[in-house]
Amino acid sequence: FNLKSYNTFGFEVSCKSFISCHTNEQLQDALSYLKNHPQAYLILGGGSNILFSNNFNGIVIHPAMKEISILKENDKHIWLDVQAGVVWDELVEHCVNNNWFGLENLSYIPGNVGASPVQNIGAYGTEVKDCIEQVNGIFIENNEAFSLSAEACQFAYRQSIFKGELKNKTVITSVVFKLNKTESYNLSYGPIKEQVGKMGKITLQNVRTAIIDIRKSKLPEPEELGNAGSFFKNPVISKEQFATLQEQHSSVPSYQVAHDLIKVPAGWLIEQAGWKGKALGKAAVHNKQALVLVNKGGATGKDMLELAHTIMQDVNNKFGISIEPEVNII
Ligand code: EPU
Repeated sequence: FNLKSYNTFGFEVSCKSFISCHTNEQLQDALSYLKNHPQAYLILGGGSNILFSNNFNGIVIHPAMKEISILKENDKHIWLDVQAGVVWDELVEHCVNNNWFGLENLSYIPGNVGASPVQNIGAYGTEVKDCIEQVNGIFIENNEAFSLSAEACQFAYRQSIFKGELKNKTVITSVVFKLNKTESYNLSYGPIKEQVGKMGKITLQNVRTAIIDIRKSKLPEPEELGNAGSFFKNPVISKEQFATLQEQHSSVPSYQVAHDLIKVPAGWLIEQAGWKGKALGKAAVHNKQALVLVNKGGATGKDMLELAHTIMQDVNNKFGISIEPEVNII
């Protein structure tokens, strides 16, 4: 089965078999089949945060359940149960159209709802954990259902229990979101505030439009240039290490994440290391955002990994800082 349209890098890779599950029952049947036919498996949503370094010699299970239901509501809040196969940005659009506040800063992020808690997707001052009440799924090993509260999911920057202790052990079937029915915006990310300001009025739709415009100005469309969004996580370093860095590079941007910890944009480090817009064969660093690696056409996962490793080494040599991939490497 060809996975080219199931990975946003657009790599020509295949798997042995592929099962698309449109209901929870189909998903449970797929997991029973897997139990009776043990083999390598992969749960694949939208394929927007994955790098196949090779063909996948096993079964790919694709959750494609797409219902959005209202669980309950009061004057202030609404609780939605959203199945894993819903396209993330279609959910955001649906919420904006209904005047439900909370997810708008996460507009235009590629991928499906089921993947959103795994790496706790985040952008422009918001993380999905801020709106998650519960995550529902199935344990692969015994086909039993589970529900985890947001707290139990151990969310952190680009991290959750699904990338930790429960890595490769569950399939997320739905996510329960708690959204606001009363006006509330997060305009903490300067450029959004500026852009919305230019539009005259702060509305949900204007915030969404501003974010889509900003994303489009920096991030390549996978249909035009294969990519998986940010390839690396932004590294977090100690205050002391940051002070040394700042002595040598006074313009280094940063965000404080704890009283003695500072996050430095990996995009800046990569740009300073001279990689922005540069290529190694058909794998390249995007010219508008150095955190994004792109497939110029015909690159393989191995080409992309070679580029990533070269960049990681150069950044380490120049700054003494290790950067780590954010994408899932298979
Ligand atoms: N920068 C550069 N050169 C570059 C890119 C960035 O110098 O080529 C510096 C600039 O100083 C800029 C700063 O880095 O002010 C931050 O850049 P940006 O606001 O574009 O954000 P980021 O830290 O590079 C993170 C997320 C993005 C998210 C944006 C906006 C990670 C790994 N990435 O990127 O998420 O959209 O913030 O909030 O945390 C994704 O995960 O796929 C993703 C796109």
